[in-house]
Amino acid sequence: MQIKLELNGKKVTAEIEADMLLLDFVRTQGCYSVKRGCETANCGLCTVFLDDKPVLSCSTLAARADGRKVTTLEGLQEEAAEFGAFIADQGAEQCGFCNPGFIMNALALFRENPYPDEEEIKEYLAGNLCRCSGYEGQLRGILAFLEYKKSKEQKGE
Ligand code: FES
Ligand code: FES
Repeated sequence: MQIKLELNGKKVTAEIEADMLLLDFVRTQGCYSVKRGCETANCGLCTVFLDDKPVLSCSTLAARADGRKVTTLEGLQEEAAEFGAFIADQGAEQCGFCNPGFIMNALALFRENPYPDEEEIKEYLAGNLCRCSGYEGQLRGILAFLEYKKSKEQKGE
């Protein structure tokens, strides 16, 4: 079957098998930030935005993206770099495997709720698995980023 969609701002037309997963499709298009960590909808590593809402691409058929907009970390470089620097600063990243999925979910949270409190952050990111760290560094990184964002807004930047 044929699908037409917008992937990271570019129009794409492709022939796919009806049972192809969105995860495999975006990787065939060069979006290697999207990773397979479990395939049981438990790790969050395969998160992409479908029409700006986060979905697990390991449990979404590529056919569902037909006529829609798909965004991966490759399409959010500026936003991701600014936030990612705060995570790196906290030494939160170890092997880095979970990082793209974690950043996608954190950016989705900031879009839904620009200034979440600690509980809201923990709740939202609960589905994001990291085998290396105890999440404390990631949490500190998020809180430091939110402080920075607040002060930037107060200064009207
Ligand atoms: S690979 Fe999709 S949730 Fe783990
Ligand atoms: S840093 Fe290794 S899985 Fe998270």
